[in-house]
Amino acid sequence: MKVFVVGASGVIGTRLVPQLLERGHEVVGTSRSPEKAERLRALGAEGITLDLLDPRAVRRAVLESEPDAIVHQATALSDARFTRKLDRSLAQTNRLRTEGLDALLAAAREVGVSRFVAQSFASMRYAREGGPVKTEEDPLDPTPLAGMAETAAAMNYLDDTVTDAGGIALRYGLFYGAHNDGLVEPVRKRQFPIVGSGGGYATWLHLDDAAAATVLALDHDGPAIYHIADDEPAPVREWLPVLADALGAKPPRHFPVWLARLFAGEIAVMLGTEARGVSNAKAKRELGWTPRYPSWRQGFAEVYARASVQEGREVGAPASVSSESPVSS
Ligand SMILES: NC(=O)c1ccc[n+]([C@@H]2O[C@H](COP(=O)([O-])OP(=O)(O)OC[C@H]3O[C@@H](n4cnc5c(N)ncnc54)[C@H](OP(=O)(O)O)[C@@H]3O)[C@@H](O)[C@H]2O)c1
Repeated sequence: MKVFVVGASGVIGTRLVPQLLERGHEVVGTSRSPEKAERLRALGAEGITLDLLDPRAVRRAVLESEPDAIVHQATALSDARFTRKLDRSLAQTNRLRTEGLDALLAAAREVGVSRFVAQSFASMRYAREGGPVKTEEDPLDPTPLAGMAETAAAMNYLDDTVTDAGGIALRYGLFYGAHNDGLVEPVRKRQFPIVGSGGGYATWLHLDDAAAATVLALDHDGPAIYHIADDEPAPVREWLPVLADALGAKPPRHFPVWLARLFAGEIAVMLGTEARGVSNAKAKRELGWTPRYPSWRQGFAEVYARASVQEGREVGAPASVSSESPVSS
């Protein structure tokens, strides 16, 4: 198939493009920057420049490429500052998930693509009641906290719009696997505490596994929503000390809820104490996907040990340091 990947230059995209090519697909990959488009060419894709928020340019690029399939992996999180007003931090990403998606889907309809797969997100979305691990059928949070309502609405819009169009929305877990993973610095600096009992769940996902599942999703008919996440959803009190250890950091601090609320706000408290994890059973069953990194327990150690070797840092890496390909985006 000819696959048009928007966001091909990002942390997922740069892993996805080689995997698509390996699978025998032809790839058109986009970036807003000519330099990154050039790098996509070096990977073996046709690299083009495109701003997803320019609907005319989107229409032109898709009509010119005439792809069989489209993958939407565009987000704008690298420069985002995560504050207690999540909606402000994610405003641009929310536009890419709504306006950007609309432009892409309109063009997709015009050329009659047979497959449409888009990046969605699994964490922070489910109703904070009942068991700790949710399936795709479980209800989403009907009352998102102040400061994240627009973000929740944008993710819901993406899921609904993609599936209404017959496509597949992949609700990814929390990414790790790159040197600039979001939690690396805060955890190294002990700025990410265990809040209260640390019972809020996260479900992690190695970036290579995210790319592999995306390739498989292109072989399947929609509409569908899948959780793409590892096998071990876990509460903060379990994964955070393991992550700190993998990074050679001191153990995380413990904050009472009132203190975390004061310093970090209600969203941080919710994530630390109430958030739900997700089950990957449906993706494994229907996509035939098996994560190469089934648990963050091994994944963190492997990824950050490798990164530390590259950086020449002493981070308490386990002895079984692999000398495989570098971890980078
Ligand atoms: N599930 C998760 O945990 C999750 C999800 C997303 C991101 N993250 C984290 O956030 C950090 C970086 O995120 P990021 O979103 O900046 O990722 P990124 O790795 O830079 O990827 C974003 C992609 O979207 C593209 N993009 C951005 N704005 C665009 C626009 N207006 N039009 C077309 N394409 C556009 C970028 O292309 P150009 O910039 O080349 O134009 C890039 O290819 C990473 O640490 C990542 O792990 C985590």
